[in-house]
Amino acid sequence: MATESVTLPGDVIDLVRQAHWITVFSGAGMSAESGVPTFRDAQTGLWERFDPAALATVEAWDDDPALVWGWYLWRMKLVGDAQPNPGHRAIAGLADHRTVMVVTQNVDDLHERAGSEVISHLHGSLFEPRCSVCAAPYHGTGTRLPAGFDIASYTEPPRIDPPACHECLSPVRPGVVWFGEPLPRDAWQRAEHTIAGSELVLVVGTSGIVYPAAELPERALANGTPVIEFNIDESALSPYVTLSVRTSAAVGLPALLDAVRG
Ligand code: OAD
Repeated sequence: MATESVTLPGDVIDLVRQAHWITVFSGAGMSAESGVPTFRDAQTGLWERFDPAALATVEAWDDDPALVWGWYLWRMKLVGDAQPNPGHRAIAGLADHRTVMVVTQNVDDLHERAGSEVISHLHGSLFEPRCSVCAAPYHGTGTRLPAGFDIASYTEPPRIDPPACHECLSPVRPGVVWFGEPLPRDAWQRAEHTIAGSELVLVVGTSGIVYPAAELPERALANGTPVIEFNIDESALSPYVTLSVRTSAAVGLPALLDAVRG
């Protein structure tokens, strides 16, 4: 867990103090300091270690549902064992001072566990599995890893058969968006709406290369809304945003909250 601190530039503090309605647009870097791997960071990123085409597409699911289900169960367990970091908590705290709308690409529940209401999970949620045929939500026990499963020794996705839907007995699938699938319509509309109404957008920990999600900060900029990026590195959005802060989420966001509290 990060213990450093950062001094934020004055123009970042000014923009945040002036804004009443703030949208936070988060990506995997938001949860990195909670121990949840990002997708594209060198060495630790999930897509550096695993093939997305074999695990996160409809074709992968059709070919080998047990492989895909096992991989998502592993990720559910990883997130379940993680805790929100000071960045998640700072965003929840910011809502005591401003109207804060959280739009996330993350399929974890760390914003919620930190106390934020997430208005849009653009890429779905690990914790909302549904029937692959009739789409009925699944609330059964088949989302737990087998007893004795040792996450530390995991090198290959475990193969675990998906449970059966309680309505139609078809296989239950992860409630996430796979490559090539459309985003959930309601989540997208809520995100569009809050971006259109925002006075400031905070973009936290995203590479900004996955569309249509990455379109949201671009739309804000096109509307004349300032966009501040918090990222440890340059992202695809960095050349366009109003201001970039090169800091981690768990360090930069608490500093932002302190500045708002004055
Ligand atoms: P990426 O893995 O593509 O990018 C993570 C970003 O977070 C990078 O820009 C890092 O520099 C930054 N980062 C890493 N650690 C950080 C920290 N502690 N604080 C701040 N920034 C940090 O993840 P996403 O942009 O979220 O989609 O990826 C977008 C989508 O691609 C995901 O939602 C997922 C993936 O395929 C689906 O699964 C549909």
